[in-house]
Amino acid sequence: MKKLFFALLPFVFLAMPYLLARLSAHTILETPEPKLTAQLMRQKALKAGFRSIPAGTAAMLRLVDTKQNPLNAAKIELGKELYFDPSLSRDGAVSCASCHDITAGGDNNRPTAIGYKHRTNPHHLNSPTVLNAALGSFQFWDGRARSVEEQAAGPMQAPFEMASTPQNVVAKVRANSHYRKLFGKAFGDEKVTFKRITQAIGAYERTLLTRSRFDSFLDGNLTALDTKELQGLNLFIDIGCKACHFGRSIGGQIIQKFPMNPYNALFYPRFGIHAGRYYFKGIAFDTNVSDAPYPFPDLGHYYGKNGAQMFKVPVLRNITKTAPYFHNGSVKDLKEVIRIMAKYQRGVELDKKQIAAIEAFLHSLEGKVPELNLSGV
Ligand code: HEC
Ligand code: HEC
Repeated sequence: MKKLFFALLPFVFLAMPYLLARLSAHTILETPEPKLTAQLMRQKALKAGFRSIPAGTAAMLRLVDTKQNPLNAAKIELGKELYFDPSLSRDGAVSCASCHDITAGGDNNRPTAIGYKHRTNPHHLNSPTVLNAALGSFQFWDGRARSVEEQAAGPMQAPFEMASTPQNVVAKVRANSHYRKLFGKAFGDEKVTFKRITQAIGAYERTLLTRSRFDSFLDGNLTALDTKELQGLNLFIDIGCKACHFGRSIGGQIIQKFPMNPYNALFYPRFGIHAGRYYFKGIAFDTNVSDAPYPFPDLGHYYGKNGAQMFKVPVLRNITKTAPYFHNGSVKDLKEVIRIMAKYQRGVELDKKQIAAIEAFLHSLEGKVPELNLSGV
């Protein structure tokens, strides 16, 4: 008996890497080819809580109007001018639009933001999109502001963004007679205050809603999505992406931990390894062996709310236009982002086809900032 034990010991030893890797492996999600008609899929999406951004200025503005900051045409126009005005910054060179280009996805496609005197964000933070941000319940990567108005006060003062002070911003705006006139129309009198400046910018941001093909689909246009996109939508619901990325903005509604699942393998076989994983008979093995907090480079050492890796769940509208991804902009490829999300947020390994389908669905969330018809607003 003892002899047998010792005879087998080398084999057990040799098999250890396999057994340990097996422990930390995830099974690949098997989804039967869905026999979903567009009609059934639309019902499923509505049941899952998806709602469309309505067509037309009036319906859109009704959705985002608030008692705290009632919208009117002059306020929106004023906010738009302030949004694009670099003179609000300390050196007159940086505006909100420098980092949030509304014609290009609402961000700036740089891994990290660059502001006043080319200073970069000290945490290597990526600029989130301003498009549809007004529909979210939280702003900033850690969710520290609740509304776009509250948020707007931040960048004007941040030393690495516009680097100004409320006094300086107010003085610059007050000195401009065109602005004073617009304040009169927007607020009833020409008094310029920092709060009113943030309200005007917020009013403009509230109009930055981008209706997409997905909205048209939700409204009943059953041919708006093709088969692959429908499959992607189905996966997005079934896997549970929508447990976090939900609401009309498809994100921005809650703060969540990332990553949810630990991903470091204890040990792994050292052959045939690439990109942190490999596949064997339908089983995917994790091969990351590190204490790194994220499944991507920890640029900027930022850990979200309370340093607990809690993040505002990002808005996914226009996500196909806002690479690079994640809070520190360290992943360029949207397919890789989808793989990471499924694995570490839901514990499932997707195959290439499933990832491509979800990516196709995300393309259906692209939209443009509408031309508003503000007469009568
Ligand atoms: C230097 C680049 C830069 C400038 C200038 C800038 N932002 Fe940002 N913006 C960022 C970065 C980076 C973040 C994320 C910061 C964080 O989470 O701490 C952000 C976050 C936001 C958000 C939150 C979006 C979300 O989904 O969480 C909004 C809205 C926003 N900015 C609007 C504005 C407005 C309005 C202005 C002008 C008053 C402005 N930004 C100026 C880089 C910039
Ligand atoms: C448990 C909540 C949760 C689930 C489930 C979840 N996500 Fe996320 N998602 C997040 C958080 C939090 C982030 C931000 C992480 C960061 O930047 O460090 C994020 C980021 C993303 C991003 C990058 C956004 C950007 O602006 O950089 C995409 C794309 C995304 N998720 C898609 C998906 C898909 C597709 C699924 C389903 C397979 C999914 N998510 C499931 C919470 C979740």
